[in-house]
Amino acid sequence: MNANLPPIQKVLFDEATIQKRIKELADEITADYEDILAIIVLKGSMFFATDLLKHITVPVEIDTMHLGSYGMKGMKSEAVRLNNDIVSSIEGRNVLILEDIVDTGKTMKYIHELFALRNPASVKLCSLLSKPSKREIEIDIDYLGFEIPDAFVVGYGFDYKEKYRTLRDIVVMEPE
Ligand code: PRP
Repeated sequence: MNANLPPIQKVLFDEATIQKRIKELADEITADYEDILAIIVLKGSMFFATDLLKHITVPVEIDTMHLGSYGMKGMKSEAVRLNNDIVSSIEGRNVLILEDIVDTGKTMKYIHELFALRNPASVKLCSLLSKPSKREIEIDIDYLGFEIPDAFVVGYGFDYKEKYRTLRDIVVMEPE
């Protein structure tokens, strides 16, 4: 590991645990749908989404959207910014949003409000992680991988200053 980065504290979910849970989620989703328009929320969700979607056996179309934030991450004043919208029309489609984590809920509120204007047949959310201790807005998560405590996690898509996303495990990082 880079000596300039904070140390890793412990493995929260190892690769096998993550992949086992993803297969379970994919089976549940497959049972509930006849077809899916999957929207991958970049960048963090890309690893989770590609692993999940490979296990889904009903027809899937994929689109991506890239969201970020104005202001300091973790601050109350932080607001969601749409960096890149999806290209597809979601009108009449069964949309499944794929997120890596729901923290405050601001990102999901933003997406729900945006999509509500576009007349989809249905919109559901699949999130790998949820951190309920951080929630400011109530969000229904239809398919959830794991609930986590108020810890800073990196790996498997989660970053610290854009580093660590490519780790296969999800690990807890010591705060600076
Ligand atoms: C993270 C994560 C979610 C969002 C959740 O994205 O991927 O999209 O924050 O937080 P919220 O519930 O408080 O809105 P981030 O802005 O870190 O971007 P990234 O996916 O590119 O890492």
